[in-house]
Amino acid sequence: MISIPNHTLNDGTTLPALGLGTWPMDDAQAERSVAAALEMGYRLVDTATNYRNETGVGRAVARAGVPREEVVVTTKLPGRHHGYEETLASFEESRARLGLEYVDLYLIHWPLPRVDRYVDSWKAMIKLREEGLVRSIGVSNFTPAHIERLEKETGVLPSVNQVELHPFLPQEELRSHHAGKGVLVESWSPLGRGSQLLDDLAVAAVAEAHGVTPAQAVLRWHIQLGALPVPKSADPGRQRANLDVFGFTLDDAQMHTIADRAHRRIGGDPEVHEEF
Ligand SMILES: NC(=O)c1ccc[n+]([C@@H]2O[C@H](COP(=O)([O-])OP(=O)(O)OC[C@H]3O[C@@H](n4cnc5c(N)ncnc54)[C@H](OP(=O)(O)O)[C@@H]3O)[C@@H](O)[C@H]2O)c1
Repeated sequence: MISIPNHTLNDGTTLPALGLGTWPMDDAQAERSVAAALEMGYRLVDTATNYRNETGVGRAVARAGVPREEVVVTTKLPGRHHGYEETLASFEESRARLGLEYVDLYLIHWPLPRVDRYVDSWKAMIKLREEGLVRSIGVSNFTPAHIERLEKETGVLPSVNQVELHPFLPQEELRSHHAGKGVLVESWSPLGRGSQLLDDLAVAAVAEAHGVTPAQAVLRWHIQLGALPVPKSADPGRQRANLDVFGFTLDDAQMHTIADRAHRRIGGDPEVHEEF
């Protein structure tokens, strides 16, 4: 089994350096894929209320022969439940669907600046952590300014910010800000969600130099940036390959080659994107 290094978070807990994304799997697919992934050595699973597959993820964790304390289950608060009491209630619903006593990592899915209730949700997340119902709390799609505001108004920094990050969107400024604050960056859509990146000739050349696939080269790029990628694959062969990225090192030129492309987003702009 592949052994995965860990990150230590600003709250003292640890996360494995790579995890499995589960969007857009349904419950049945999530149960199958997460079970296969846990068996081959994945120890972090990324879901969300809005993926509508928490039940399947929970079933896979329950039936895996892996001790509960070795698995990091991440889920996320949806936009429709922003607010203090709403967050506490939404969390209980997630916890029930997952069938877990505690959740390892709970994230605010999007900041929704126009709604302007993410600070209230953050206060509820702090309470959930104090009560031991959540091990680590964090956010997703937050900008440095949103994170500064959480710190200013509550004194508590997120442990994690999960953002869109891939070679088309390397997030240099955000990564440098978060490194200074001790906030771990997780990369969503780490493979750029598709073939354009993985069929790129320059990426293929870097991969070939190491005898790996383009997806492995790209995931290795994330690891060396210090970001934690959560690639989604429903295919056991690709899942296995995606995890096997700890046995080679890209040099500076290869790191540059992978990110040397025109920048663009796949998903929404956190300043305006609304998802409930
Ligand atoms: N916080 C947020 O707002 C947010 C937003 C989007 C996503 N996410 C999270 O991030 C996870 C990953 O993002 P994503 O699913 O958008 O994109 P991704 O992981 O970059 O790409 C997934 C796509 O690549 C394919 N793939 C995976 N491994 C491959 C390989 N080795 N070779 C070739 N193709 C491969 C998958 O197909 P197969 O399944 O057929 O292998 C799937 O079509 C999601 O599942 C979700 O958990 C979070």
